[in-house]
Amino acid sequence: MIDLFADVSAYCRLAVAPEHRRPIAIVGAGGIVDGAHLPAYALAGLTVVGITDVDLARARDVAERHGIPRVYASVDELLADDEVVVVDIAVPVSAQPPIFRAALAAGKHVLAQKPFAVSPEIARELASIADASGLVTAVNQQMRFDEGIAAAHRMVELGWIGDITSFSITVNVTTPWELWDWAQSMERLEIMVHSIHYHDAVRWFMGEPRSVYAIAGRTAGQRPIGETRTLSSYTFDSGASALVHVNHVNRGGDNSAEFRVDGTAGAIRGTLGLLYDYPDGRPDTLEVASTVLPTDGWVPYPVTQRWFPHAFIGTMGSVLEGIATGSTPRSSVADNVKTIELVDALYRSMESNQVVRLD
Ligand SMILES: NC(=O)c1ccc[n+]([C@@H]2O[C@H](COP(=O)([O-])OP(=O)(O)OC[C@H]3O[C@@H](n4cnc5c(N)ncnc54)[C@H](O)[C@@H]3O)[C@@H](O)[C@H]2O)c1
Repeated sequence: MIDLFADVSAYCRLAVAPEHRRPIAIVGAGGIVDGAHLPAYALAGLTVVGITDVDLARARDVAERHGIPRVYASVDELLADDEVVVVDIAVPVSAQPPIFRAALAAGKHVLAQKPFAVSPEIARELASIADASGLVTAVNQQMRFDEGIAAAHRMVELGWIGDITSFSITVNVTTPWELWDWAQSMERLEIMVHSIHYHDAVRWFMGEPRSVYAIAGRTAGQRPIGETRTLSSYTFDSGASALVHVNHVNRGGDNSAEFRVDGTAGAIRGTLGLLYDYPDGRPDTLEVASTVLPTDGWVPYPVTQRWFPHAFIGTMGSVLEGIATGSTPRSSVADNVKTIELVDALYRSMESNQVVRLD
């Protein structure tokens, strides 16, 4: 059995080949860059040549602590630096599109934080410019590189559970939304900035759904104006179904984040360690029960890498590999347009209290 896991573990390995490495510059010196992008890039031996932020003091502080040689006074100054090959954008979604367009116009490859656009219209417009540019562009939907999720995906690809019949993700956490000023006024909040990872994962495992139905809730006294609890269901042409249930108002102190994939020949179940103690987290867990493997019952897969920061090596690594070899990143901008369309469909379902068809 251990030799069978070797294929899965090779698929999950997060490293960037030295010949793929190119100079990176970062727009945004916020919490996610400080706590995940930069630690991941250091682990992978990547070169960050500079950083900028509208809050220059913040950029200087992050640059000093992470050993980044240059702080640019503006995005324009960053884009004028010929040494920069990849622009890593990590600012609130409302600020991303102009930076994305300017980076492509300057001939830079781009990795943009999720969500890279608030609407399908903007997403399609940016994807069309990206396509015409011939540059490599991806969205930092790095849950696709989180080891528990990536390993589960590989097990499905290897046929260990047959055809997927259902997929569920259930999360109960306490989220301090007050940490993000820009999130307070977002009418579309929980799915747009958090559960977009889970919905993107459903698409990655199962393809495009036929229809979705979603409901959402707020809690009396909460500060953000948007929803903080969502429950989304999916149907697929194959007859398969999916469920994503996320509650950010867990007052029980027992955070949990579980996923499960059922198939015609077995099942996979796991936990997303990050959500148990965000942003420090703990390792994911993952188990598989399969009628096509030489096992009896549930077998644990040994997860050794975390969502934060390790999975961030995967998204940037896929852009660097794309530049070096012409491969398409796992979460390319072209693919992510479908995730933004799905997110929009979920909100339209909530707002209309109707099933929304995507076909
Ligand atoms: N798992 C993940 O991938 C993950 C986790 C958290 C946040 N995010 C995303 O990353 C982005 C940043 O989140 P954060 O948690 O770091 O937020 P943050 O509020 O800590 O930081 C945002 C930074 O962007 C800067 N900024 C805003 N507009 C700018 C502009 N036009 N030009 C340059 N800098 C600008 C702000 O000054 C701030 O320093 C958001 O889009 C968020 O959705 C992704």
